[in-house]
Amino acid sequence: METVISVKSHASQEGAELFQSLQPDPSWAFLHLTQRETNYATHGYHRYPAKFIPQLAARLIQELSCEGEWVLDPFMGSGTALVEAKRLRRPSIGVDINPVAYWVAQAKVNAIEPERLKRAILQVLTAVPGSQPDLFGSQPQDAIEEFHERLRYWFPPQSLRALRAIHEAIEGLPADDLKVFFRCALSHCLKPLSYWHDRSVKPTRKLSRRIPDARRVFATHVKRMERGNREFWEILTANHALEVPALPSCADARTLPAEENTVSLVVTSPPYVTSYEYADLHQLSVLWFGATTDLRSFRKGFIGRSNGIESCPQPMGSPLAERIIQQLGERNPRKASECALYFAEMYQCFTEMRRVLKQGGAVAIVIGNTHISGVEIQNAQVFAEQLSGLGFALERVILREIPSKILPRTRDSKTGKFARVSEADYVAYPTEYILILRKR
Ligand SMILES: C[S@@+](CC[C@H](N)C(=O)[O-])C[C@H]1O[C@@H](n2cnc3c(N)ncnc32)[C@H](O)[C@@H]1O
Repeated sequence: METVISVKSHASQEGAELFQSLQPDPSWAFLHLTQRETNYATHGYHRYPAKFIPQLAARLIQELSCEGEWVLDPFMGSGTALVEAKRLRRPSIGVDINPVAYWVAQAKVNAIEPERLKRAILQVLTAVPGSQPDLFGSQPQDAIEEFHERLRYWFPPQSLRALRAIHEAIEGLPADDLKVFFRCALSHCLKPLSYWHDRSVKPTRKLSRRIPDARRVFATHVKRMERGNREFWEILTANHALEVPALPSCADARTLPAEENTVSLVVTSPPYVTSYEYADLHQLSVLWFGATTDLRSFRKGFIGRSNGIESCPQPMGSPLAERIIQQLGERNPRKASECALYFAEMYQCFTEMRRVLKQGGAVAIVIGNTHISGVEIQNAQVFAEQLSGLGFALERVILREIPSKILPRTRDSKTGKFARVSEADYVAYPTEYILILRKR
Protein backbone atom coordinates (compact mmCIF):
# COMPACT_ATOMS: atom_id res chain seq x y z
CA MET A 1 0.00 0.00 0.00
CA GLU A 2 1.46 3.39 -0.97
CA THR A 3 1.51 6.48 1.21
CA VAL A 4 -1.24 8.84 0.23
CA ILE A 5 -0.34 12.48 -0.24
CA SER A 6 -3.10 14.93 0.49
CA VAL A 7 -2.47 18.32 -1.11
CA LYS A 8 -3.64 21.23 1.04
CA SER A 9 -5.51 24.10 -0.47
CA HIS A 10 -3.63 27.10 0.99
CA ALA A 11 -5.61 29.45 -1.24
CA SER A 12 -8.81 28.55 0.49
CA GLN A 13 -7.93 27.40 3.98
CA GLU A 14 -11.52 27.93 5.07
CA GLY A 15 -12.81 25.66 2.32
CA ALA A 16 -10.24 22.98 3.18
CA GLU A 17 -11.29 23.04 6.84
CA LEU A 18 -14.93 22.78 5.88
CA PHE A 19 -14.23 19.59 3.90
CA GLN A 20 -12.02 18.10 6.61
CA SER A 21 -14.54 18.59 9.41
CA LEU A 22 -17.46 16.98 7.57
CA GLN A 23 -19.18 13.92 9.00
CA PRO A 24 -21.31 11.63 6.80
CA ASP A 25 -24.97 12.64 6.87
CA PRO A 26 -26.94 9.35 7.15
CA SER A 27 -30.09 10.90 5.75
CA TRP A 28 -28.35 11.13 2.33
CA ALA A 29 -27.07 7.54 2.27
CA PHE A 30 -30.39 5.90 1.38
CA LEU A 31 -29.10 2.68 2.89
CA HIS A 32 -32.63 1.42 3.53
CA LEU A 33 -33.58 1.27 -0.15
CA THR A 34 -33.85 -2.10 -1.87
CA GLN A 35 -32.77 -2.72 -5.45
CA ARG A 36 -36.42 -2.94 -6.42
CA GLU A 37 -36.97 0.54 -4.96
CA THR A 38 -34.01 2.14 -6.75
CA ASN A 39 -35.11 0.50 -10.01
CA TYR A 40 -38.75 1.54 -9.77
CA ALA A 41 -40.73 2.77 -12.82
CA THR A 42 -38.40 3.16 -15.81
CA HIS A 43 -35.16 3.28 -13.79
CA GLY A 44 -34.48 -0.43 -14.43
CA TYR A 45 -34.68 -0.19 -18.24
CA HIS A 46 -30.94 -0.40 -18.90
CA ARG A 47 -27.77 -0.99 -16.91
CA TYR A 48 -25.53 2.08 -16.72
CA PRO A 49 -22.32 2.62 -14.75
CA ALA A 50 -22.45 5.02 -11.77
CA LYS A 51 -26.18 5.74 -12.01
CA PHE A 52 -27.77 8.18 -9.60
CA ILE A 53 -29.99 6.75 -6.90
CA PRO A 54 -33.32 8.20 -8.11
CA GLN A 55 -34.33 9.13 -4.56
CA LEU A 56 -31.15 11.19 -4.18
CA ALA A 57 -31.76 13.08 -7.43
CA ALA A 58 -35.40 13.61 -6.40
CA ARG A 59 -34.46 15.06 -3.01
CA LEU A 60 -32.05 17.55 -4.59
CA ILE A 61 -34.64 18.56 -7.19
CA GLN A 62 -37.33 19.05 -4.53
CA GLU A 63 -35.11 21.01 -2.16
CA LEU A 64 -33.52 23.24 -4.79
CA SER A 65 -36.24 23.99 -7.35
CA CYS A 66 -39.96 24.61 -7.67
CA GLU A 67 -42.57 23.07 -9.95
CA GLY A 68 -42.36 24.45 -13.48
CA GLU A 69 -38.68 25.50 -13.19
CA TRP A 70 -36.17 24.08 -15.69
CA VAL A 71 -33.73 21.46 -14.43
CA LEU A 72 -30.58 20.46 -16.34
CA ASP A 73 -28.33 17.42 -16.10
CA PRO A 74 -25.31 18.05 -18.37
CA PHE A 75 -23.97 14.51 -17.75
CA MET A 76 -27.35 12.81 -17.76
CA GLY A 77 -26.12 9.22 -18.34
CA SER A 78 -29.22 7.04 -18.42
CA GLY A 79 -31.47 10.01 -17.59
CA THR A 80 -32.24 9.35 -13.91
CA ALA A 81 -32.51 13.06 -13.04
CA LEU A 82 -34.81 13.71 -16.01
CA VAL A 83 -37.22 10.94 -15.01
CA GLU A 84 -37.37 12.31 -11.46
CA ALA A 85 -37.74 15.92 -12.65
CA LYS A 86 -40.69 14.92 -14.82
CA ARG A 87 -42.36 13.03 -11.97
CA LEU A 88 -41.92 16.15 -9.82
CA ARG A 89 -43.37 18.41 -12.53
CA ARG A 90 -40.14 20.20 -13.47
CA PRO A 91 -39.34 20.47 -17.20
CA SER A 92 -35.82 19.22 -17.88
CA ILE A 93 -32.95 19.08 -20.35
CA GLY A 94 -30.36 16.31 -20.34
CA VAL A 95 -27.10 16.12 -22.24
CA ASP A 96 -24.66 13.29 -22.74
CA ILE A 97 -21.92 12.74 -25.29
CA ASN A 98 -22.61 9.02 -25.29
CA PRO A 99 -25.30 8.07 -27.85
CA VAL A 100 -26.20 5.02 -25.74
CA ALA A 101 -27.06 7.33 -22.82
CA TYR A 102 -29.22 9.36 -25.20
CA TRP A 103 -31.12 6.29 -26.47
CA VAL A 104 -31.71 4.99 -22.96
CA ALA A 105 -32.78 8.36 -21.55
CA GLN A 106 -35.19 8.89 -24.45
CA ALA A 107 -36.90 5.62 -23.60
CA LYS A 108 -36.90 6.23 -19.83
CA VAL A 109 -38.52 9.68 -19.85
CA ASN A 110 -41.43 8.66 -22.05
CA ALA A 111 -44.35 6.77 -20.54
CA ILE A 112 -46.37 4.90 -23.19
CA GLU A 113 -50.09 4.29 -22.76
CA PRO A 114 -49.98 0.73 -21.33
CA GLU A 115 -52.56 -0.92 -23.66
CA ARG A 116 -50.83 0.51 -26.73
CA LEU A 117 -47.51 -0.85 -25.49
CA LYS A 118 -49.07 -4.24 -24.82
CA ARG A 119 -50.18 -4.50 -28.46
CA ALA A 120 -46.74 -3.49 -29.71
CA ILE A 121 -45.08 -6.13 -27.49
CA LEU A 122 -47.35 -8.77 -28.95
CA GLN A 123 -46.52 -7.60 -32.47
CA VAL A 124 -42.75 -7.69 -31.90
CA LEU A 125 -42.63 -11.00 -30.04
CA THR A 126 -44.89 -12.67 -32.60
CA ALA A 127 -42.60 -11.55 -35.40
CA VAL A 128 -39.51 -13.01 -33.70
CA PRO A 129 -39.15 -16.75 -33.98
CA GLY A 130 -37.73 -18.81 -31.11
CA SER A 131 -34.05 -19.51 -31.62
CA GLN A 132 -34.19 -23.30 -31.78
CA PRO A 133 -31.29 -24.68 -33.82
CA ASP A 134 -33.58 -25.60 -36.74
CA LEU A 135 -34.76 -21.99 -37.10
CA PHE A 136 -31.56 -20.02 -36.70
CA GLY A 137 -28.97 -22.78 -36.93
CA SER A 138 -30.12 -23.89 -40.37
CA GLN A 139 -29.35 -20.50 -41.94
CA PRO A 140 -26.45 -20.63 -44.38
CA GLN A 141 -23.19 -19.82 -42.62
CA ASP A 142 -22.48 -16.82 -44.83
CA ALA A 143 -25.64 -15.16 -43.47
CA ILE A 144 -23.51 -13.50 -40.80
CA GLU A 145 -20.85 -12.15 -43.17
CA GLU A 146 -22.76 -8.90 -43.56
CA PHE A 147 -22.16 -8.04 -39.89
CA HIS A 148 -19.28 -5.78 -38.97
CA GLU A 149 -16.18 -7.76 -37.98
CA ARG A 150 -16.31 -6.36 -34.43
CA LEU A 151 -19.84 -7.73 -34.06
CA ARG A 152 -18.69 -11.11 -35.31
CA TYR A 153 -15.87 -10.87 -32.77
CA TRP A 154 -18.27 -10.26 -29.86
CA PHE A 155 -21.30 -12.41 -30.73
CA PRO A 156 -21.79 -16.06 -31.64
CA PRO A 157 -23.59 -16.58 -34.98
CA GLN A 158 -26.87 -17.70 -33.36
CA SER A 159 -27.06 -14.45 -31.34
CA LEU A 160 -26.34 -12.34 -34.44
CA ARG A 161 -29.15 -13.99 -36.39
CA ALA A 162 -31.63 -13.76 -33.53
CA LEU A 163 -30.73 -10.14 -32.80
CA ARG A 164 -31.17 -9.26 -36.45
CA ALA A 165 -34.68 -10.78 -36.44
CA ILE A 166 -35.57 -8.81 -33.30
CA HIS A 167 -34.16 -5.60 -34.73
CA GLU A 168 -36.13 -6.02 -37.97
CA ALA A 169 -39.33 -6.56 -35.99
CA ILE A 170 -38.64 -3.35 -34.04
CA GLU A 171 -38.00 -1.28 -37.16
CA GLY A 172 -41.33 -2.53 -38.53
CA LEU A 173 -43.24 -0.80 -35.71
CA PRO A 174 -45.53 2.07 -36.69
CA ALA A 175 -44.33 4.79 -34.24
CA ASP A 176 -41.01 6.28 -33.10
CA ASP A 177 -41.72 6.15 -29.34
CA LEU A 178 -42.33 2.40 -29.64
CA LYS A 179 -39.11 1.91 -31.58
CA VAL A 180 -37.21 3.87 -28.90
CA PHE A 181 -38.65 1.62 -26.18
CA PHE A 182 -37.70 -1.63 -27.94
CA ARG A 183 -34.28 -0.43 -29.08
CA CYS A 184 -33.52 0.29 -25.42
CA ALA A 185 -34.61 -3.26 -24.54
CA LEU A 186 -32.46 -4.70 -27.33
CA SER A 187 -29.45 -2.64 -26.26
CA HIS A 188 -29.77 -3.92 -22.68
CA CYS A 189 -29.85 -7.53 -23.92
CA LEU A 190 -26.69 -7.32 -26.06
CA LYS A 191 -24.22 -8.09 -23.27
CA PRO A 192 -25.82 -11.32 -22.02
CA LEU A 193 -26.07 -12.53 -25.64
CA SER A 194 -22.40 -11.91 -26.36
CA TYR A 195 -19.03 -13.27 -25.20
CA TRP A 196 -18.59 -10.17 -22.99
CA HIS A 197 -16.86 -11.20 -19.77
CA ASP A 198 -19.12 -9.83 -17.00
CA ARG A 199 -16.51 -10.02 -14.33
CA SER A 200 -13.86 -8.18 -16.23
CA VAL A 201 -13.52 -4.43 -15.75
CA LYS A 202 -12.09 -4.11 -19.28
CA PRO A 203 -13.89 -5.29 -22.43
CA THR A 204 -12.72 -8.90 -22.60
CA ARG A 205 -14.20 -11.99 -24.28
CA LYS A 206 -14.98 -15.18 -22.45
CA LEU A 207 -15.48 -17.71 -25.21
CA SER A 208 -16.60 -20.41 -22.78
CA ARG A 209 -19.64 -18.33 -21.68
CA ARG A 210 -22.96 -20.11 -22.04
CA ILE A 211 -25.03 -17.87 -24.30
CA PRO A 212 -28.73 -18.00 -23.44
CA ASP A 213 -31.64 -18.05 -25.88
CA ALA A 214 -31.97 -14.57 -27.41
CA ARG A 215 -35.74 -14.47 -27.71
CA ARG A 216 -36.19 -15.56 -24.10
CA VAL A 217 -33.72 -12.95 -22.78
CA PHE A 218 -35.35 -10.23 -24.86
CA ALA A 219 -38.95 -11.22 -23.99
CA THR A 220 -38.15 -11.39 -20.26
CA HIS A 221 -36.59 -7.93 -20.29
CA VAL A 222 -39.39 -6.42 -22.36
CA LYS A 223 -41.95 -7.74 -19.85
CA ARG A 224 -39.96 -6.20 -17.01
CA MET A 225 -39.86 -2.88 -18.88
CA GLU A 226 -43.59 -3.15 -19.53
CA ARG A 227 -44.21 -3.29 -15.77
CA GLY A 228 -41.91 -0.30 -15.26
CA ASN A 229 -43.67 1.66 -17.99
CA ARG A 230 -47.08 0.98 -16.42
CA GLU A 231 -45.81 2.14 -13.02
CA PHE A 232 -44.36 5.33 -14.55
CA TRP A 233 -47.56 5.96 -16.53
CA GLU A 234 -49.64 5.67 -13.36
CA ILE A 235 -47.33 7.97 -11.36
CA LEU A 236 -47.30 10.61 -14.10
CA THR A 237 -51.08 10.40 -14.53
CA ALA A 238 -51.63 10.82 -10.78
CA ASN A 239 -49.22 13.81 -10.71
CA HIS A 240 -50.69 15.40 -13.88
CA ALA A 241 -47.16 15.22 -15.28
CA LEU A 242 -47.56 13.23 -18.51
CA GLU A 243 -46.99 16.34 -20.62
CA VAL A 244 -44.08 17.81 -18.64
CA PRO A 245 -41.18 18.14 -21.11
CA ALA A 246 -38.06 16.03 -20.55
CA LEU A 247 -35.59 16.65 -23.36
CA PRO A 248 -32.54 14.40 -23.60
CA SER A 249 -29.94 15.14 -26.24
CA CYS A 250 -26.67 13.73 -27.46
CA ALA A 251 -24.27 16.65 -27.09
CA ASP A 252 -21.17 17.87 -25.31
CA ALA A 253 -21.57 19.42 -21.85
CA ARG A 254 -19.18 22.17 -23.00
CA THR A 255 -21.74 23.44 -25.54
CA LEU A 256 -25.14 23.06 -23.93
CA PRO A 257 -28.29 23.27 -26.06
CA ALA A 258 -29.91 25.87 -23.77
CA GLU A 259 -30.32 29.66 -23.79
CA GLU A 260 -28.53 31.93 -21.31
CA ASN A 261 -30.18 32.45 -17.90
CA THR A 262 -32.95 29.90 -18.38
CA VAL A 263 -32.17 27.01 -16.06
CA SER A 264 -33.02 27.08 -12.32
CA LEU A 265 -31.13 23.98 -11.21
CA VAL A 266 -28.23 21.92 -12.49
CA VAL A 267 -28.16 18.50 -10.85
CA THR A 268 -25.49 16.11 -12.00
CA SER A 269 -22.85 13.49 -11.29
CA PRO A 270 -19.89 14.13 -13.60
CA PRO A 271 -17.60 11.51 -15.09
CA TYR A 272 -14.47 10.63 -13.09
CA VAL A 273 -10.94 10.87 -14.33
CA THR A 274 -9.74 7.59 -15.88
CA SER A 275 -12.30 5.36 -14.18
CA TYR A 276 -14.97 4.19 -16.60
CA GLU A 277 -14.24 4.29 -20.31
CA TYR A 278 -17.89 4.76 -21.26
CA ALA A 279 -17.03 4.60 -24.95
CA ASP A 280 -15.53 1.14 -24.48
CA LEU A 281 -18.13 -0.17 -22.06
CA HIS A 282 -20.99 0.62 -24.44
CA GLN A 283 -19.27 -0.56 -27.59
CA LEU A 284 -21.71 -3.43 -28.23
CA SER A 285 -24.68 -1.04 -28.44
CA VAL A 286 -22.69 1.56 -30.37
CA LEU A 287 -21.59 -1.06 -32.90
CA TRP A 288 -24.96 -2.77 -33.14
CA PHE A 289 -26.88 0.44 -33.81
CA GLY A 290 -24.15 1.70 -36.14
CA ALA A 291 -23.26 4.89 -34.22
CA THR A 292 -19.62 4.28 -35.16
CA THR A 293 -17.29 1.61 -36.40
CA ASP A 294 -14.18 3.48 -35.25
CA LEU A 295 -13.98 3.32 -31.46
CA ARG A 296 -10.76 5.33 -31.33
CA SER A 297 -12.30 8.51 -32.71
CA PHE A 298 -15.53 7.80 -30.82
CA ARG A 299 -13.71 8.12 -27.46
CA LYS A 300 -12.54 11.64 -28.20
CA GLY A 301 -15.17 13.88 -26.60
CA PHE A 302 -15.54 11.84 -23.40
CA ILE A 303 -14.34 13.73 -20.34
CA GLY A 304 -12.19 11.64 -18.00
CA ARG A 305 -10.83 9.45 -20.82
CA SER A 306 -7.40 7.94 -20.50
CA ASN A 307 -6.87 6.96 -24.14
CA GLY A 308 -5.61 9.19 -26.91
CA ILE A 309 -5.27 12.40 -24.89
CA GLU A 310 -3.49 15.38 -26.33
CA SER A 311 -1.38 17.19 -23.74
CA CYS A 312 -1.77 20.89 -24.40
CA PRO A 313 -2.05 22.86 -21.16
CA GLN A 314 -5.39 24.58 -20.65
CA PRO A 315 -6.62 26.68 -17.72
CA MET A 316 -7.94 24.67 -14.79
CA GLY A 317 -9.25 27.59 -12.74
CA SER A 318 -8.02 26.09 -9.48
CA PRO A 319 -4.69 26.56 -7.64
CA LEU A 320 -5.43 23.30 -5.79
CA ALA A 321 -5.74 21.46 -9.12
CA GLU A 322 -2.33 22.87 -10.16
CA ARG A 323 -0.73 21.51 -6.99
CA ILE A 324 -2.35 18.09 -7.37
CA ILE A 325 -1.09 17.84 -10.96
CA GLN A 326 2.40 18.85 -9.86
CA GLN A 327 2.46 16.16 -7.16
CA LEU A 328 1.08 13.56 -9.54
CA GLY A 329 3.56 14.60 -12.26
CA GLU A 330 6.44 13.64 -9.95
CA ARG A 331 5.04 10.12 -9.59
CA ASN A 332 3.22 9.43 -12.83
CA PRO A 333 3.55 12.01 -15.63
CA ARG A 334 1.09 10.29 -17.96
CA LYS A 335 -1.66 10.21 -15.33
CA ALA A 336 -0.84 13.85 -14.47
CA SER A 337 -1.57 14.85 -18.11
CA GLU A 338 -4.85 12.92 -18.09
CA CYS A 339 -5.87 14.50 -14.82
CA ALA A 340 -4.91 18.02 -15.95
CA LEU A 341 -7.01 17.60 -19.06
CA TYR A 342 -9.89 16.34 -16.93
CA PHE A 343 -9.83 19.36 -14.61
CA ALA A 344 -9.49 21.75 -17.57
CA GLU A 345 -12.45 20.16 -19.37
CA MET A 346 -14.58 20.18 -16.20
CA TYR A 347 -13.74 23.88 -15.84
CA GLN A 348 -15.12 24.46 -19.35
CA CYS A 349 -18.29 22.59 -18.36
CA PHE A 350 -18.75 24.72 -15.23
CA THR A 351 -18.31 27.89 -17.31
CA GLU A 352 -21.06 26.64 -19.61
CA MET A 353 -23.34 25.71 -16.69
CA ARG A 354 -22.93 29.25 -15.39
CA ARG A 355 -24.00 30.64 -18.77
CA VAL A 356 -27.31 28.77 -18.84
CA LEU A 357 -28.16 29.15 -15.12
CA LYS A 358 -30.38 31.96 -13.92
CA GLN A 359 -28.98 34.34 -11.35
CA GLY A 360 -29.67 32.72 -7.97
CA GLY A 361 -29.95 29.32 -9.67
CA ALA A 362 -28.41 26.33 -7.90
CA VAL A 363 -25.95 23.69 -8.94
CA ALA A 364 -25.80 20.34 -7.12
CA ILE A 365 -22.84 18.10 -7.97
CA VAL A 366 -22.38 14.58 -6.69
CA ILE A 367 -18.69 13.64 -6.77
CA GLY A 368 -16.19 11.50 -4.87
CA ASN A 369 -12.46 11.87 -4.41
CA THR A 370 -10.03 9.22 -5.53
CA HIS A 371 -6.33 8.32 -5.48
CA ILE A 372 -3.92 7.87 -8.36
CA SER A 373 -0.32 6.75 -7.76
CA GLY A 374 -0.71 7.56 -4.09
CA VAL A 375 -1.87 11.15 -4.66
CA GLU A 376 -5.31 12.13 -3.45
CA ILE A 377 -7.32 13.55 -6.34
CA GLN A 378 -9.59 15.95 -4.48
CA ASN A 379 -12.24 16.33 -7.13
CA ALA A 380 -14.79 17.85 -4.75
CA GLN A 381 -12.44 20.51 -3.38
CA VAL A 382 -11.18 21.37 -6.88
CA PHE A 383 -14.72 21.68 -8.25
CA ALA A 384 -15.71 23.92 -5.32
CA GLU A 385 -12.68 26.13 -6.03
CA GLN A 386 -13.35 26.25 -9.78
CA LEU A 387 -17.00 27.14 -9.26
CA SER A 388 -16.20 29.78 -6.62
CA GLY A 389 -13.81 31.38 -9.10
CA LEU A 390 -16.63 31.49 -11.65
CA GLY A 391 -18.87 33.47 -9.29
CA PHE A 392 -20.75 30.76 -7.41
CA ALA A 393 -21.31 30.87 -3.67
CA LEU A 394 -20.71 27.59 -1.85
CA GLU A 395 -23.91 27.03 0.10
CA ARG A 396 -23.58 23.54 1.47
CA VAL A 397 -21.37 20.45 1.32
CA ILE A 398 -22.84 17.08 2.24
CA LEU A 399 -20.76 13.97 2.80
CA ARG A 400 -22.64 10.77 2.05
CA GLU A 401 -21.79 7.13 2.43
CA ILE A 402 -22.14 5.08 -0.74
CA PRO A 403 -23.78 1.70 -0.30
CA SER A 404 -21.23 -0.84 -1.61
CA LYS A 405 -23.86 -2.39 -3.91
CA ILE A 406 -23.99 0.80 -6.02
CA LEU A 407 -20.35 1.33 -6.92
CA PRO A 408 -17.34 -0.92 -7.24
CA ARG A 409 -15.18 0.20 -4.34
CA THR A 410 -11.88 -1.32 -5.28
CA ARG A 411 -9.28 0.37 -7.41
CA ASP A 412 -5.74 -0.02 -8.57
CA SER A 413 -3.95 2.85 -6.82
CA LYS A 414 -1.39 3.28 -9.64
CA THR A 415 -3.87 3.84 -12.43
CA GLY A 416 -7.01 4.93 -10.56
CA LYS A 417 -9.04 2.42 -12.60
CA PHE A 418 -11.59 0.11 -11.07
CA ALA A 419 -10.05 -3.27 -10.36
CA ARG A 420 -11.20 -6.70 -9.31
CA VAL A 421 -11.29 -7.13 -5.54
CA SER A 422 -8.36 -9.57 -5.66
CA GLU A 423 -6.18 -7.12 -7.66
CA ALA A 424 -7.12 -3.87 -5.98
CA ASP A 425 -5.03 -2.21 -3.35
CA TYR A 426 -7.21 0.78 -2.70
CA VAL A 427 -10.84 1.32 -1.74
CA ALA A 428 -12.38 4.00 -3.96
CA TYR A 429 -14.72 6.61 -2.56
CA PRO A 430 -16.85 4.72 -0.04
CA THR A 431 -18.08 8.25 0.60
CA GLU A 432 -18.82 11.03 -1.84
CA TYR A 433 -19.70 14.69 -1.65
CA ILE A 434 -22.73 16.64 -2.70
CA LEU A 435 -21.70 20.22 -3.46
CA ILE A 436 -24.45 22.82 -3.52
CA LEU A 437 -23.60 26.24 -4.91
CA ARG A 438 -25.57 29.22 -6.13
CA LYS A 439 -24.89 31.57 -9.02
CA ARG A 440 -24.42 35.04 -7.55
C1 LIG B 1 -21.46 9.36 -13.78
S1 LIG B 1 -22.17 9.26 -15.37
C2 LIG B 1 -23.76 9.94 -15.13
C3 LIG B 1 -24.78 8.90 -14.68
C4 LIG B 1 -26.16 9.47 -14.50
N1 LIG B 1 -26.24 10.34 -13.34
C5 LIG B 1 -27.21 8.37 -14.39
O1 LIG B 1 -27.99 8.37 -13.44
O2 LIG B 1 -27.24 7.48 -15.25
C6 LIG B 1 -21.29 10.51 -16.25
C7 LIG B 1 -21.70 10.68 -17.70
O3 LIG B 1 -20.94 11.74 -18.28
C8 LIG B 1 -20.92 11.48 -19.68
N2 LIG B 1 -19.93 12.36 -20.35
C9 LIG B 1 -18.59 12.21 -20.45
N3 LIG B 1 -18.06 13.22 -21.17
C10 LIG B 1 -19.08 14.04 -21.52
C11 LIG B 1 -19.16 15.26 -22.25
N4 LIG B 1 -18.09 15.82 -22.81
N5 LIG B 1 -20.39 15.83 -22.40
C12 LIG B 1 -21.51 15.25 -21.88
N6 LIG B 1 -21.48 14.08 -21.21
C13 LIG B 1 -20.29 13.48 -21.01
C14 LIG B 1 -20.64 10.00 -19.77
O4 LIG B 1 -21.00 9.49 -21.04
C15 LIG B 1 -21.53 9.48 -18.62
O5 LIG B 1 -22.77 9.09 -19.11
